[in-house]
Amino acid sequence: MKFYIDSADIEEIKQANAMGMVDGVTTNPSLVAKTGRKHEDVIKDICAETGGLVSAEVLATDADGMFSEGMELAKLADNVVVKIPMSDEGLVAVKRLTSEGIRTNVTLIFSPIQALLAAKAGAALASPFVGRLDDISTNGMELISQIRQIYVNYGFKTEILAASIRHPIHILEAALIGADIVTVPFKVITNLTQHPLTDKGLAQFLKDAEKVPQ
Ligand code: G3P
Repeated sequence: MKFYIDSADIEEIKQANAMGMVDGVTTNPSLVAKTGRKHEDVIKDICAETGGLVSAEVLATDADGMFSEGMELAKLADNVVVKIPMSDEGLVAVKRLTSEGIRTNVTLIFSPIQALLAAKAGAALASPFVGRLDDISTNGMELISQIRQIYVNYGFKTEILAASIRHPIHILEAALIGADIVTVPFKVITNLTQHPLTDKGLAQFLKDAEKVPQ
């Protein structure tokens, strides 16, 4: 399973990249806004930091606008993937961008049918939002499982990018189901190596090592 970081903060991305935890990056307008920087500058810096795919989201909501914005975003770097929100207009834009050889990531997916349509439109990535479904007492991971079954049934090449990840169990469940990618916030990434027995074991090793004659 590939690990992407869900962030537009270049310092977070550099730290996670140093840990080998950045197979790619997803951004969205809210994450970019937090940086206080121009969108294109943020994306250029991220694309230079990682060789993996970097999702950059359009702001237009009409097909022509999404297509134009997407073509411009794709010029920023070879590893840019154009992020398109799920909608009728978005599907038109995905088909047009795909026909131009531009990879797309269809975002804000909350139903298996939306994911099916994204795959049929030719999206390279589909982003179902697990955490936001959990937030409204709906089983977000069930969506990942349903999408996985649909994509296997019909041999779709679209990769499932499990998004809106809130904690390590989301990552475990996504891996057990067989999501292709999880995109993880930095604060979750930095918790993944932690375990009390690891800490306890290391402390004992170091304590015992002190008894070894030098
Ligand atoms: O960036 C897409 C998605 O991962 C954002 O999820 O719910 O943390 O805003 P959320």
